[in-house]
Amino acid sequence: DWTMAEFRRTKIAEIREQVGDGKVICGLSGGVDSAVAAVLIHEAIGDQLTCVFVDHGLMRMNEAEQVVTLFRDHYNIPLVHVNAEEMFLSGLAGQTDPEKKRKFIGGAFIDLFEAEAKRIGGADFLAQGTLYPDVIESVSFTGGPSVTIKSHHNVGGLPERMNMKLVEPLRELFKDEVRELGRELGLPEIFVGRHPFPGPGLAIRIPGEVTKERCDILRKADAIYLEEIRNAGLYDAIWQAFAVLLPVKTVGVMGDGRTYDSVCGLRAVTSTDGMTADIYPFDSAFLSRVATRIINEVQGINRVVYDYTSKPPGTIEWE
Ligand code: XMP
Repeated sequence: DWTMAEFRRTKIAEIREQVGDGKVICGLSGGVDSAVAAVLIHEAIGDQLTCVFVDHGLMRMNEAEQVVTLFRDHYNIPLVHVNAEEMFLSGLAGQTDPEKKRKFIGGAFIDLFEAEAKRIGGADFLAQGTLYPDVIESVSFTGGPSVTIKSHHNVGGLPERMNMKLVEPLRELFKDEVRELGRELGLPEIFVGRHPFPGPGLAIRIPGEVTKERCDILRKADAIYLEEIRNAGLYDAIWQAFAVLLPVKTVGVMGDGRTYDSVCGLRAVTSTDGMTADIYPFDSAFLSRVATRIINEVQGINRVVYDYTSKPPGTIEWE
């Protein structure tokens, strides 16, 4: 019989075997997966591991500080904090195609990890928190003809020139199993229980061009939505909830003035592995409260809509 304690022991032995006395760089995204991978690998090889947190400026409200605190204070695992907002936002300027945005972000991560590897005198391995569904979905969907739905930022191998091999200890796991492993490794419950957050971050929740201003608007709306979800005691019943900022302006009225501002979409789904999902059926009083707060408190948004699309045919993220 198979337990997480056993999985932990087996993986630690495997990581030591694979890595030998080599050096590993692990990219942290702020999500549960990469955090669990990093803690597991740190347990296996200690200071042969360098954790790199790339802050691409596409994080949710206060997320960057939370990650840094978890690693530095809770685990005492050294962490390189790269502030790369400028680089990501300038690279995304003018980009509106979802796959081009994803590919740029994936490439920029690789460049930064490479630079970090150089800085520590070379690294032999790059570690990622890739899960089983990431592996499947980047290749095909529901077993049909092989079609890429989206290029997950952390799948697809590394450029030849890199000379680094991948360490992906979570490749066989589903999300609920990663959370179990996280608990086994002593990650705080608030971290383990967090909704999934994609590596490309808010960039794929802002259809069209991503700018700092739009990221700031979205962060505020998203924080209000999540605060209301937590206050209503619904956070743990939902797989993932987030706001989306649409590249569409509509007309509204506020006081006795006309407004002409962006539309905010709200998404909330239930799921067990992210591969299929159902919409979360909020009651209308809840949705009205969130809509009113967002429109009153976030400058730049004057209309809020709720996404009623299950997966399939929709995907969870909008890009
Ligand atoms: P979709 O949008 O494909 O998302 O239905 C399924 C799950 O995967 C997450 N997701 C990603 N996670 N890198 C990640 O680490 C990515 O590039 C990525 N794209 C989507 C998404 O948030 C959902 O939980």
